[in-house]
Amino acid sequence: MNQSAIHSLTVALGPRSYPVWIGAGLLADHARWRAALRGRHALVISNTTVAPLYLPRIEAGLHGLRWLPFLLDDGEAHKTFANVGRALEALAELGATRDACVIALGGGVVGDLAGFSAACWMRGIDFIQMPTTLLAMVDSSVGGKTGVNLPAGKNLVGAFHQPRAVVADLDTLATLPEREYRAGLAEVVKGAAIGDAAFFAWLEQHAAALAAREPASVLQAIARKVQYKAGVVARDETEQGERALLNLGHTFGHAIETAGNYTAVLHGEGVAIGMRLAAQLSERLGLSQPADSARLQRLLEQLGLPTTIPSGMDAQRLLERMRLDKKNSAGQLRLILWRGIGRAEIVAGVAEADVLAVLKAAQ
Ligand code: NAD
Ligand code: GLY
Repeated sequence: MNQSAIHSLTVALGPRSYPVWIGAGLLADHARWRAALRGRHALVISNTTVAPLYLPRIEAGLHGLRWLPFLLDDGEAHKTFANVGRALEALAELGATRDACVIALGGGVVGDLAGFSAACWMRGIDFIQMPTTLLAMVDSSVGGKTGVNLPAGKNLVGAFHQPRAVVADLDTLATLPEREYRAGLAEVVKGAAIGDAAFFAWLEQHAAALAAREPASVLQAIARKVQYKAGVVARDETEQGERALLNLGHTFGHAIETAGNYTAVLHGEGVAIGMRLAAQLSERLGLSQPADSARLQRLLEQLGLPTTIPSGMDAQRLLERMRLDKKNSAGQLRLILWRGIGRAEIVAGVAEADVLAVLKAAQ
């Protein structure tokens, strides 16, 4: 792919607006992203898998700055408060002032932790997202949700802190394992399923190309998902309303991820299964038509994503985990359901018997 194929989008948040660049060769396009660094210090947060592959591509772009790498061990288990503490110590060692910048080079784990570290240092310094997974490119690097896990649960500590820029270099996807790539596609489908029926139809037409990682289709898919998410974030940055729709499939998905100890099922896989369950529940409640659930299931399967609950996960236990979801209120299940492709909505007071029936049918 050549440089002319670079997409440039904006997350419109007034004075905090920022660009999202998507295309090949962007990590080495130092002049482009270096302009987003204001001060003299940078902490590059990455992990032990990604740094050997891609840190050399950005090093020359940091010339003239005082900078340090800070590498996490690989995996969700390292998205911890303790590692935020270590990153803050590294900023102290650097002598980072308020104009310093944190650079997140990696997937969503690195991005969430780096963004939260930037939010904490001196009550908030700049950070730049350099996502290297498809999931991070289409979802976690855009929108400013940052945070870490606690033993008590995922993403329980965090802050809204928007990046200064997002640099999504498609070349990095060349080394992304197949399963991780597909998990990222689930987040693409999610955006279309929630709010863009035309995009959903486009995904159906390009499913084979996307499964084969055909570059022009991958670029289009990322750009359209990011454009959709950027619009939602611009309208509802702190999730007072519409942004909650981005959690379609998440209540089911988180319960399944947790039941799998965050290792058996990837986040995007949980979202895929969860979306299918949300569609079936919507159908059961008379909100949507069987044809919509069937189209969603077919697309997910064409993209190589799971749509059934892994064996050994008990429906009743999954329901119990769903009761702990942050969206619930007054002891009632509050779920993101839909009225068909492209039309999601928040539904409160969903009867547990209906949820249980859907969980049991999907095993
Ligand atoms: P991840 O960061 O764990 O990356 C997945 C795996 O791919 C890791 O092993 C990583 O080392 C490896 N990897 C990354 N880039 C690579 C590359 N280019 N080549 C080879 N290997 C590479 O997982 P993820 O799916 O990117 O992100 C999941 C995290 O994102 C979760 O913690 C989730 O909670 C969070 N998330 C946050 C938001 C948000 O809005 N902030 C949204 C969705 C998900
Ligand atoms: N991934 C959900 C959100 O950004 O709101």
